[in-house]
Amino acid sequence: MSAGTETDKLVLGIELGNTYSRVGVYRNNRFEIIPNELGQTATPTMVAYTSDGRILVGQAAKDQQADNPRNTIFDLISLFNAHYFSDEIVAKKPSLPFELWVDPSFPETDRLYIRMENIKGYEHHLVLYPDEILVEVARKLKEDAERYLGRSVSKAVMAVPLMFDDLQRLYTYAVGKKAGLSVLRVVDVADISLGEYTFGKDVHEERNVIVADLGGSSFHGALVTCDEMGGMEMQVSQCISKFGGADFDSRVVAYWVEQFKRRAQQQDVNDITRDFKAMTRLRHEAEKAKIALYSSTSGVTSIKVEIKSLFKGQDFNETLTRTKFEDLNQDLFWRVIEVFPGLLDECMMEREDITDIVLAGGSIRIPRIVDILKETFGVKEVYDSSKIGVKAEEVDVYHAAYCGYRELTD
Ligand SMILES: Nc1ncnc2c1ncn2[C@@H]1O[C@H](COP(=O)(O)OP(=O)(O)O)[C@@H](O)[C@H]1O
Ligand SMILES: [Mg+2]
Repeated sequence: MSAGTETDKLVLGIELGNTYSRVGVYRNNRFEIIPNELGQTATPTMVAYTSDGRILVGQAAKDQQADNPRNTIFDLISLFNAHYFSDEIVAKKPSLPFELWVDPSFPETDRLYIRMENIKGYEHHLVLYPDEILVEVARKLKEDAERYLGRSVSKAVMAVPLMFDDLQRLYTYAVGKKAGLSVLRVVDVADISLGEYTFGKDVHEERNVIVADLGGSSFHGALVTCDEMGGMEMQVSQCISKFGGADFDSRVVAYWVEQFKRRAQQQDVNDITRDFKAMTRLRHEAEKAKIALYSSTSGVTSIKVEIKSLFKGQDFNETLTRTKFEDLNQDLFWRVIEVFPGLLDECMMEREDITDIVLAGGSIRIPRIVDILKETFGVKEVYDSSKIGVKAEEVDVYHAAYCGYRELTD
């Protein structure tokens, strides 16, 4: 291939999400999401360090999580450049199966590390910053992209969560660099509503747009205004860092545990909740069933779940229906409007002033949640990316890829 041709000038769009990471590219006037070696278009943001010294990334890490909980690291975005003694981390720490650590010689900086054990080549512990671990994910996405594209690519635009501060954005450049990428820009979900994605054109009228991005473990809400001059500006935003699809899965798991206990005969299985392996298997199956229920193509309303020898030799068989799932989570769904009264107040606006809703994130695929937003704001039209052939959870990576393309062509 000769230098300087159109295909030579590719820029990857990369999203490192707290739950899933993605890579895509915008070329020939369209967006392509790039599958990994398993054909998945989303790679779990999970990295495992094994006792024999291997580093597993994505699904491979997730598959062995139940057996290697202390050295399988996830939740990396919420730990990214975090402070060990911050309220958020203190609250989160007990729920994580791996160890957070602070260097006792530098307690004043209190930068958070992750400490792993029993790893070949490390006599005592392997101690890494979350961003160092995230480099493994970025590197894998680059490799997946290069395999798919059949060529090397060194440039990328990276999408980060709205709540990332300047320092975290700076570290994101460094993560890209360590993964062998030159990062042209770092963008967030608020930029998305500034993109062509929302309206498919520049708007020259007053509009007040709400952005609702519901992922795996966080919700981001923002209020964006458009004016007659074609300008768009993000006015305010807020993040709920402990609300997302994982909470819906937890409700299902809790229900399944009760069912399992009820059905287990002649055996005491009450301590199943203390068995990390069994609970992880339930959690993974709950997520799979949920996604199967709400994948646009499937149209199914119930999913059969079978787990062989879940606990003390007993199998688990169950059917999850949409109705049951929504009953279990009804009150949680309403949390999608929680941040908006405050955001509206800050902008001195009323609910009725909202003209448009922009949706993003994997969990926004649950129609009941979209209905709650529509009912609350009385907005009939919502902008969801399926109109441009992009799944809601791929909005961030789409936007990063599109920005990458614009960087080259502008
Ligand atoms: N079709 C679907 N229906 C319902 N939930 C989904 C679907 N696809 C993905 N999810 C959920 O969306 C969440 C991930 O959202 P995503 O935006 O990809 O991640 P992140 O939190 O990294 O931004 C997970 O909880 C996942 O189970
Ligand atoms: Mg997301």
